[in-house]
Amino acid sequence: MEKRIFRFSAASTEIHFGSGISHLRKIADPKFTVLITDENVYHAHTRRFRGWNTIVLKAGEAYKVQATVDAVVETLIEMEADRKTILVGVGGGVITDITGYVASVYMRGLRFGFIPTSILAMVDAAVGGKNGIDVGEYKNMVGTIRQPAFILYDMTVLNSLPQVEWENGFAEIIKHACIKDAAMFNALEANTLKYYRSKRRAIEELVQRNVLIKAKVVQKDEFEKGDRRLLNFGHTLGHALETQYELLHGQAISIGMTFACHLSAKQCGFTQNQRVVNVLEKYNLPAYASFNKQKVFDILKMDKKRERKEMNYVLLEKIGKGMVKTISMNDLQKKLLLW
Ligand code: GLY
Repeated sequence: MEKRIFRFSAASTEIHFGSGISHLRKIADPKFTVLITDENVYHAHTRRFRGWNTIVLKAGEAYKVQATVDAVVETLIEMEADRKTILVGVGGGVITDITGYVASVYMRGLRFGFIPTSILAMVDAAVGGKNGIDVGEYKNMVGTIRQPAFILYDMTVLNSLPQVEWENGFAEIIKHACIKDAAMFNALEANTLKYYRSKRRAIEELVQRNVLIKAKVVQKDEFEKGDRRLLNFGHTLGHALETQYELLHGQAISIGMTFACHLSAKQCGFTQNQRVVNVLEKYNLPAYASFNKQKVFDILKMDKKRERKEMNYVLLEKIGKGMVKTISMNDLQKKLLLW
């Protein structure tokens, strides 16, 4: 088992690769710990939850809302949870987001950690400290930035992860490759999802590489004044699509990445669009879709990267090198409507 410690402004995160709930006993006393999970994860791994206080939530993005936070807070009060209680989110991105958020606000803050169970949560949602909930049509509209005390990686949980969830997670891996890691992009081009699904060592290495990319970016710019913005590649359009259509996060940001490549070609001479589209399609992600552009633009306007009449858009200079460029909302609207 390998351990890495990342220090952030107000806390450190211990990242344990090759561990899981069995290791949790070494760092958290079951008497003072509450696990938060969803029905799918609980049913797939019931045995692992034995002996732990557990709150089981309904599964899905539709439940990443204030009503769920209220219900969890009420349950914690019934359980007499206090400031010494540790919350542990065991699940995908919805569970890590809700757990981090509840832990940030309950009694003004509890220690918390994660055991991510999906590729997406492993490489993205569990890392970085952003947490929160959706409000109506707006994704992640309310939340805080607060770092988990620990993240435990147990790759055996992937044995029960459905194919579509593998694809969903690979969208974030492709995103990291596009903005930061040309060599990883080449490896993704050369390999297949089937290869990563069947070779335990390959997926372990790929997950670790992505965790390190993300943790290093966040460490340098925890509060998103600069480089951290790059992690939003594909997300401006992606989030707007995700709330308007029945798309998984990875599918929505995949279309968002294709549009960002198109903008990159127009704004900064990017010439490798087709390679990005090919990799997305190779991992069974949609690169294009027809959608109501005006309706989606009306949601996109509320993106957190907008500053008055301009949007800070994440573009690519070349594969492996992301950049942020300001684009006027008028220009952005025109380019989206004409895409
Ligand atoms: N929790 C995900 C992030 O901080 O980006």
